[in-house]
Amino acid sequence: MPFPTERPRRLRATPALRSLVREQRLHPSQLVLPMFVKEGLDSPREVTSLPGVVQHSRASLVDAAHEAVEAGVGGLMLFGVPAERDARGSGADDPEGILNLGLRDLADAVGDRTVVMADLCLDEFTDHGHCGVLVPDGPRAGTVDNDATLARYTSMALAQAAAGATVLGLSGMMDGQVGVVRAALDEAGRDDVVLLAYAAKYASAFYGPFREAVESTLVGDRRAYQQDPANRREALREVRLDVEEGADVVMVKPALPYLDVLSDVAQEVDVPVWAYQVSGELAMVEAAAANGWLDRERTILETLASVQRAGADAVLTYWAVEAARWLRRG
Ligand code: PBG
Repeated sequence: MPFPTERPRRLRATPALRSLVREQRLHPSQLVLPMFVKEGLDSPREVTSLPGVVQHSRASLVDAAHEAVEAGVGGLMLFGVPAERDARGSGADDPEGILNLGLRDLADAVGDRTVVMADLCLDEFTDHGHCGVLVPDGPRAGTVDNDATLARYTSMALAQAAAGATVLGLSGMMDGQVGVVRAALDEAGRDDVVLLAYAAKYASAFYGPFREAVESTLVGDRRAYQQDPANRREALREVRLDVEEGADVVMVKPALPYLDVLSDVAQEVDVPVWAYQVSGELAMVEAAAANGWLDRERTILETLASVQRAGADAVLTYWAVEAARWLRRG
């Protein structure tokens, strides 16, 4: 038996060698923290299925934002939980609606030190819980009306831009949403507002705990607008359309179960590619770690390294603040 001549292990022998040959490093500024602000709360409230994540009051939101900025995270993505909902999601584009108030609070408090982002979707604001308005009658009654929803999204976009959001995260998966929102912003003189397109967003079971966080009223599912988990090639079509329509950044969501898609997208486009490590990805690790079945910190950092390795330039993660501290510690 000849001894091996190629010896990759040689480069793994010491921490110093391993550090020197490490192919990638994650920086805290590549982490974006999703946050929830709930109308009418006096103090933060825990989300049972998302250990460590809370629904914020307006005051606690600002405190947590300062903490995140101190930790060095690159941005904040805000979701609103309104007290009341209706068929058209009126709270979404109301300047006094909870999401727009929260955006204004964040922009005033930390807007010059981090990137304030808004979730642009109707699902938290509609009483039926869908991401758009529904067709009222006729053969398609009760299904999401794509083009009527686009009009709601443009109105939301203008309200969010006025509230001080720098980046708008189009997460509704309506056809043409990036193009119409871009045109409306440009027309209003807001060509400075950045559009993040959830280009490849799958109809995923991993969103379960998020629905608790936003108190979703959805009955049924979103399979008529979000992508089928079995489809890989289709993601490239979604991404191409969004980039053609003017997306500044594209995102793949969820992250860990879709690393192949993330890798494809990263090879295909020349705009930044982000990934959203969703609620179920956190819940899965937290539950296993709480049982002592996984090493929590190592597992979290490994998931983030994997998402980066697959091609993400930045990651939305509920662990952003904690992970940023670990990464800084080295
Ligand atoms: C919808 C939206 C969802 C998430 C972010 N935006 C849920 C859905 O599509 O049902 C999920 C995020 C998560 O699970 O962490 N606007």
